[in-house]
Amino acid sequence: MSGQEIDLKKRRFLTNATSVVGAVGVGFVAWPFLSSWMPSARAKAAGAPVDVDISKLEPGQLVRVLWRKKPVWIFKRDTTTLANLEMFTDEDLADKDGTKDSKSQQPAYITQSHRAIKAEIAVMVGVCTHLGCSPTYRPELGAADLGGDSWKGGFYCPCHGSKFDLAGRVYAGVPAPTNLVVPPYHFVSDSLIRVGVDPKAS
Ligand code: FES
Repeated sequence: MSGQEIDLKKRRFLTNATSVVGAVGVGFVAWPFLSSWMPSARAKAAGAPVDVDISKLEPGQLVRVLWRKKPVWIFKRDTTTLANLEMFTDEDLADKDGTKDSKSQQPAYITQSHRAIKAEIAVMVGVCTHLGCSPTYRPELGAADLGGDSWKGGFYCPCHGSKFDLAGRVYAGVPAPTNLVVPPYHFVSDSLIRVGVDPKAS
């Protein structure tokens, strides 16, 4: 695609931007490319919702978008991952059922252990609850550097070693005190998520 075509596309997108921060396709995973699709800084600063097209999201795939200047992860979990989430115990996790910090870390309508509206689609703010680094996505089972057989996939924060499972629940005994934040969101359709707006407000 020529530079002229890119400029034309970008201009058309910015012209069409309204209160919603444009639909972000699943293919746009890389940060630099994503940034080029984000509209004005003014719209982002205002906390406009972000629409994310998940029609092409495959199990295990994670897409990152920006919402209120924070990274938000949307990723797809398969049945094995969901089953593994049920295997964690109170000894493994600091707040397995989200009862200790549920008010601050997730909307009231997120009540199940998988911490999502639809079990297979996870949505969470990708900011470590210790000091704000962005953890690394480590979905592979049994990663040798993260505990071997006991590692069921999750997120690892390299800053001070905090670990989270694939529901964003924090491991026990790590620096991060609480689970990752689940932002307000809802499904506009089966293939479109709107981050930043509760279901009842849609
Ligand atoms: S910021 Fe993540 S462990 Fe400290």
